Amino acid sequence: MNATLRTTGQLPLQPDWIPIADPGAEVRALRSSIQEAIDKVLSGGTYILGEETAAFEREWAAYLGIRHCTGVASGTDAIALALRAVGVKKGDEVVTVSHTAVATVAAIETLGAVPVFVDIDPVTRCLNPDLISGVLSSRTKAILPVHLYGQPAPMETIMAIADSHGLAVVEDCAQAHGAAIAGRKVGTFGHAAAFSFYPTKNLGALGDAGAVVTDEASLAQRVREMREYGWRERYVSHIAGTNSRLDELQAAILRVKLPHLDRRNEQRRTVAARYRQAIQSAELTAPAVIPGTTHAMHLFVLECEIRSAVEESFLRSGVRTGRHYPMPVHRQPAYAGRIRGGDRLPVTEQLADHILTIPCSPEQGEDQVQRICDFLRAWPNASLQARHTSIPHRSARIG
Ligand SMILES: Cc1ncc(COP(=O)(O)O)c(C=O)c1O
Repeated sequence: MNATLRTTGQLPLQPDWIPIADPGAEVRALRSSIQEAIDKVLSGGTYILGEETAAFEREWAAYLGIRHCTGVASGTDAIALALRAVGVKKGDEVVTVSHTAVATVAAIETLGAVPVFVDIDPVTRCLNPDLISGVLSSRTKAILPVHLYGQPAPMETIMAIADSHGLAVVEDCAQAHGAAIAGRKVGTFGHAAAFSFYPTKNLGALGDAGAVVTDEASLAQRVREMREYGWRERYVSHIAGTNSRLDELQAAILRVKLPHLDRRNEQRRTVAARYRQAIQSAELTAPAVIPGTTHAMHLFVLECEIRSAVEESFLRSGVRTGRHYPMPVHRQPAYAGRIRGGDRLPVTEQLADHILTIPCSPEQGEDQVQRICDFLRAWPNASLQARHTSIPHRSARIG
């Protein structure tokens, strides 16, 4: 077992381990097209906000079915710029969830705005719209739902509540490229939406990248100005801005990958369906199938009655697992005790203690899918199939 060691980040990885994600596999498959796209940028001589960025912005907007897309430097920036564009200012409250990547909350605070938490729905694992009215105050300006794991949040209900209270809505679509509600892509429901193209996302660059999308020309214009120092024309800032530009290499790489997104999402859903079928034990709960929604299946997150046992057995069977996220934001040292609503999140807390992400990527070969299905089918006797005795403890960041 210790013959050839590969490494993922800093972890030694035995050849037959199933990784939680393998972004390199897609790159290997598309290597010649990616190389061609990179070469074109290298010889073009424009490296930031050039033709590749403009073309990717058009193509991503067309894919979603929305008028405007503005490429920015990361998903976190995209959320912050979208919030600013819809008018959120210092001291304004933004209603969101604690069961998310910390970036959602960090982005709100970069503006000096104030996150307020509501609990999630136990079935969608996304913001529970029934709880929004209970946290509204005179300072509430916006709602920031997160389509976590690729499952769309209930946008029609959220928009109706926002409209009735005059609130803006920014969707956090960082994990939901291609997810949809009744065929309509997420990112097209709110006043604006933010995407991340971090390398492990369903559509990933080879570095940091993000985008803000909107149907409103004035919002798009504000984001375009803010991403480059508030410039309307070069060197003249009309509003206070920042530097959050998308570079040409990332845009060119995203253009190569975009035509493969739908097929790859379908492959993710096929793997997920097989996992669902394999689960026999009441100790394991698969993510719910919610009628009328198309899951992007960014992450396949089980709920396990006794997580540590499942986790350890998976590891002993050579399957890496993850926790997304091990600690909800309101419990993390930087946020604990200071975010309104953080003391009323029973569903978030319950879920956080039971979630376990298992590999579910388009790259997984039949043998890997089968191994995981065999494990799920055999649980709670799956540990009998253990093949590894030494267990590494860290898994790669994928969500
Ligand atoms: C739900 C969610 N929101 C926001 C982000 C931030 O994106 P980025 O890492 O590109 O800044 C991420 C990415 O990790 C995410 O998963």
